[in-house]
Amino acid sequence: MRAVAVEKFGDGPRLIELPDPTPAAGEILVRLRAASLNPLDSVVAAGYLAQQYPNTFPLVLGFDGAGEVAAVGDGVERFAPGDAVFGQFWSEPLGRGTFAELVALPARSDSGALLPLPPTIPLQTAAALPTAGQTAFGVIAALAPAAGETLLVVGATGGVGSLAVQLAARRGARVIATARADAAEWIVGLGAAETIDYGAGPLPEMLAAAHPEGVDALLDLTGDRALVSACAPQVRDGGRLTSIGFGAPEELLAETRIEVSNYENVDKPRLLAGIADEVVAGNVAVEIQREIELAMVPAALGAPGGARGKTVVLIESDR
Ligand SMILES: NC(=O)c1ccc[n+]([C@@H]2O[C@H](COP(=O)([O-])OP(=O)(O)OC[C@H]3O[C@@H](n4cnc5c(N)ncnc54)[C@H](OP(=O)(O)O)[C@@H]3O)[C@@H](O)[C@H]2O)c1
Repeated sequence: MRAVAVEKFGDGPRLIELPDPTPAAGEILVRLRAASLNPLDSVVAAGYLAQQYPNTFPLVLGFDGAGEVAAVGDGVERFAPGDAVFGQFWSEPLGRGTFAELVALPARSDSGALLPLPPTIPLQTAAALPTAGQTAFGVIAALAPAAGETLLVVGATGGVGSLAVQLAARRGARVIATARADAAEWIVGLGAAETIDYGAGPLPEMLAAAHPEGVDALLDLTGDRALVSACAPQVRDGGRLTSIGFGAPEELLAETRIEVSNYENVDKPRLLAGIADEVVAGNVAVEIQREIELAMVPAALGAPGGARGKTVVLIESDR
C-alpha cells in the first residue's frame, strides 16, 4: 500500500510503499477513502511526543480519516466488513496513521474515537471532522458562552476555530474572531459578529481599543503563552479564559480575577458523536479549504500556516 511516513523523527515525510497491514485479534482493517491534516501530524513527525507515547517506524502519519472496514480480527463484534467508519484513528505505538490506503487498529481505542459513519455525512466531511470537531465541540461546551456574552476566539480561522465560531454563535454569543484580512468576510459568514486582523498590529492593543469594557470570555487556539498572557487583562472581572494549546502558563492559572484553564478532551467518542450530530442536523458546516491527493501530503505538511478550515486528503485506491 502507499503511505506517507517518516523513517525517523525529524525526517521529512515521504510517500512510500509498505506491505498491506493485517488486523490482529481485536483489531479492524480500514480501507481509507479520505483523511485530513492537523497540526498534530507535524508534532508527531518531529518527535515532540516521543517521551509521552511509544512509536513505530516507518511512522505512518495522520490521525483523522474515513473509509470502510475491509476485515476484522478475531473477537471483533463492534464492526463488520463493509461498515463505513470515521474518526480519530489513534493507536499506540503511534505510526499506524491515516495517510495510507489501509490501516489496522484496535476496534476500541482508549485514546481516539472511531464511530460508524452517519449515512448523510460525506466522506470528505467525515475525514475533516474528528480532531478539530471533537475539540471545538468539547471546548465550547466547557466554556459555555451564553447568549449576549462576548467571546474572543484567538486562532479562529483554522480547523478548530471555524467550528468553534459556529458553535458559539449558535448559542447566541457575540463572537469576536481573529482573522487576517483575507479571511474576515468568510469567518463573519460563519457567525462571527466582528473580526480583529492580528496581522495588522498587536492583538491586545487592538482588542482594548475595540472593547475597552473587556470581553466575557476568551478562547485561545494558538497555544501562544506570551499572547495569551498579554490578552488576559482584556477579560472582564469574573470572566473566563481557556486555551486548547496549553497557552495558559502557571502564573495565569493561579489568577483569581478571572477563571483560567487549559482545556483537554475527555471521552473523545462522546465529543465526536456530539459534533457529528450537529453536522447531521445542519447546525454547523465543516469548512474544507482544499482537497489534495496522498502524494501531495508531504508538501502540505512542509508548508504549514494559512489554514482556513480543513485540508482533506482524497485517497484513491484501485482495490
Ligand atoms: N488539545 C487538543 O486536544 C487539541 C486538538 C486540536 C488542536 N489542538 C491545537 O490547537 C491549535 C489549532 O488547531 P487547528 O487544527 O485549528 O489548527 P489550524 O487548522 O492549523 O489553524 C490555525 C489557525 O490559527 C491562525 N493563527 C496562527 N497564529 C495566530 C495568531 N497569533 N493569532 C491568531 N490566529 C493565528 C492561522 O492562520 P494564519 O496561519 O494565517 O496566521 C490558522 O487559521 C493547534 O496548535 C493544535 O495543535 C489541540
